[in-house]
Amino acid sequence: MSKKILITGGAGFIGSHVVRLFLNKYPEYQIVNLDKLTYAGNLENLKDVEKSPNYSFVKGDIVDASFINKLFAEQRFDGIIHLAAESHVDRSITNPLAFVETNVIGTLNLLNAAKEQWKGNMDGKLFYHISTDEVYGSLGEEGFFLETTAYDPRSPYSASKASSDHFVRAYHHTYGLPTVVSNCSNNYGPNQFPEKLIPLCIHNIKNGKPLPIYGDGKYTRDWLWVKDHAAAIELIYHKGLIGETYNIGGHNEWKNIDLVHLLCDQTDKALGRPQGTSRALITFVKDRPGHDKRYAIDATKIKKELGFEPSITFEQGLSETIDWYLINTDWLDNITSGAYAEYYAQQYKNR
Ligand code: NAD
Ligand code: TYD
Repeated sequence: MSKKILITGGAGFIGSHVVRLFLNKYPEYQIVNLDKLTYAGNLENLKDVEKSPNYSFVKGDIVDASFINKLFAEQRFDGIIHLAAESHVDRSITNPLAFVETNVIGTLNLLNAAKEQWKGNMDGKLFYHISTDEVYGSLGEEGFFLETTAYDPRSPYSASKASSDHFVRAYHHTYGLPTVVSNCSNNYGPNQFPEKLIPLCIHNIKNGKPLPIYGDGKYTRDWLWVKDHAAAIELIYHKGLIGETYNIGGHNEWKNIDLVHLLCDQTDKALGRPQGTSRALITFVKDRPGHDKRYAIDATKIKKELGFEPSITFEQGLSETIDWYLINTDWLDNITSGAYAEYYAQQYKNR
């Protein structure tokens, strides 16, 4: 059946994989990608699919309510998959307001526009909000985040995502808006902006620069291959139950230092350098303020109810990721020229 789906943040890391998956798998759907093209948005991520007859791109800001209302007045959407966000914890520590604007106000603008457009007949409609496991706070050595775990956001980024999640659920309960929310663990893979740990380290290894490890390096994250996240999103979009929440994770916990060791060894191998070359670049630096100790998802619900499981091992995914960054040198060079250098100098100057 034909559907028109608005995907916000489709030029970003995860969004571009979601757009590609939907375009290729559902040629009968019309996919509209709305993105402001901030520093993290890059239409190069979609070069291979931008000419698809069922694809269109709209440049715009979700914080601009009149623009959003006009877009919804012009186009009638059956579904919204909302990924647009400010997404980097370190930037949220420097500039929290930008996170409130995009992640909270931007989400509210979309909720209001969907409520207005679908009033009177919400059959077959869906507002799907993409969120993060970071809203649940920080774990000790034991335990996992469940869908029922109480929210305990501890960074400005996670506080803004938690707020937007609450608004999405409030619109479901108050106005009957058909919504679904998923909370995913850390993603990795091609097209991730090199401010995040894995692409930042690959970029620095390539250039023989220090690999900055915050604190003691024993902070733990649960890593999921980005294409598996996109597959889970596609599954939830079609099979998820209205009003529900699904946690998505990789059952793949790594302490940062162990992950960076693996990354160094795999990259040395890919570059034909002697083992140990890149490990020598590891530099322990000043910790991130309020650094969450451990994230880990219990993904039982999505496995049992929707049959989702990650498709590849971390070693495979990491090796594909390294190869992608080593081959796509233009992508990386374009992104790391200009504003990135300023960001990097500022972010790591006192560390
Ligand atoms: P990203 O930073 O790579 O991409 C975000 C995209 O949103 C960019 O294309 C940017 O241009 C766009 N955008 C930002 N502000 C906008 C605005 N005001 N109006 C319109 N577009 C705007 O982020 P990502 O890593 O792809 O994350 C996508 C979503 O998934 C986010 O909601 C994030 O919270 C969530 N998430 C990310 C991860 C992860 O590990 N990266 C894990 C779980 C959940
Ligand atoms: P990041 O990729 O920023 O994701 P998040 O903070 O959303 O989990 O960071 C992943 C982990 O790596 C986190 O514990 C912080 C740490 N980290 C470093 O040690 N050094 C760095 O330069 C960066 C960017 C992150």
